[in-house]
Amino acid sequence: MRIYRTSDYNELSRKAADMIAAQILMKPACVLGLATGSTPVGTYECLIEKHQSGSLDFSQVKSANLDEYRGISKENPNSYYFFMMDKLFRHVNINPANTHIPDGTNPDADAECARYEQILCRLGGVDLQVLGLGHNGHIGFNEPADAFPVNTHCVDLTQSTIEANKRFFASAEAVPKQAYTMGIGTIMKARKILLLVNGEAKAHILNAALCGPVTPRVPASVLQLHPDVTVIADNPALSEMNL
Ligand code: GLP
Repeated sequence: MRIYRTSDYNELSRKAADMIAAQILMKPACVLGLATGSTPVGTYECLIEKHQSGSLDFSQVKSANLDEYRGISKENPNSYYFFMMDKLFRHVNINPANTHIPDGTNPDADAECARYEQILCRLGGVDLQVLGLGHNGHIGFNEPADAFPVNTHCVDLTQSTIEANKRFFASAEAVPKQAYTMGIGTIMKARKILLLVNGEAKAHILNAALCGPVTPRVPASVLQLHPDVTVIADNPALSEMNL
């Protein structure tokens, strides 16, 4: 595992964008695993700048997002579909047919999760998976549990995640209670993983994830077992780690 310390969020975003751009340059038809949440927003802005300045071509890139809320439509500004269109896809030359996000409107959870696993299989697996870190250690929407969920599945969101994500909604009641998410096994199959973490509020959970025991109670701790993980974190997020 490589850990890059940055002085602030802007440097984190630039470095993460450089690594994603390097992946695209090395393999123009690569499969990017993409994340939502506030953490990667700056990274996506830097990628857009690179594209608009002519140095980054997304025409052959394929993408698969980690997760989607269950029961909200693509047009809903809180859907992860809307987020990805708004923050990245509509600003670059990625082919919309090559972008994949679980369909939150499919009421048949088993069918939707099986469909998504098939898509990932057909894509040949993820080359570079971008991850953020939930305040409770979740990755994607894999919440603390008694065991690591393997495949894409429907998850009940924990109260702490609902509380953390209510800032995007009118109220906590408006936050969907379930989501479809890649499983831990799905995430671990990615060839490379890029974990992005910023801010002091994540310092404790980042230390637990990277230096504590590997346990499904801290889902991100499983990343200790992956052979190619890069962490980019700013000083406040790394403040509880003895590096
Ligand atoms: C959501 C997403 C996660 C993300 C997490 C952290 O719950 N499902 O993929 O990593 O939020 O979000 P933020 O970056 O806003 O702290």
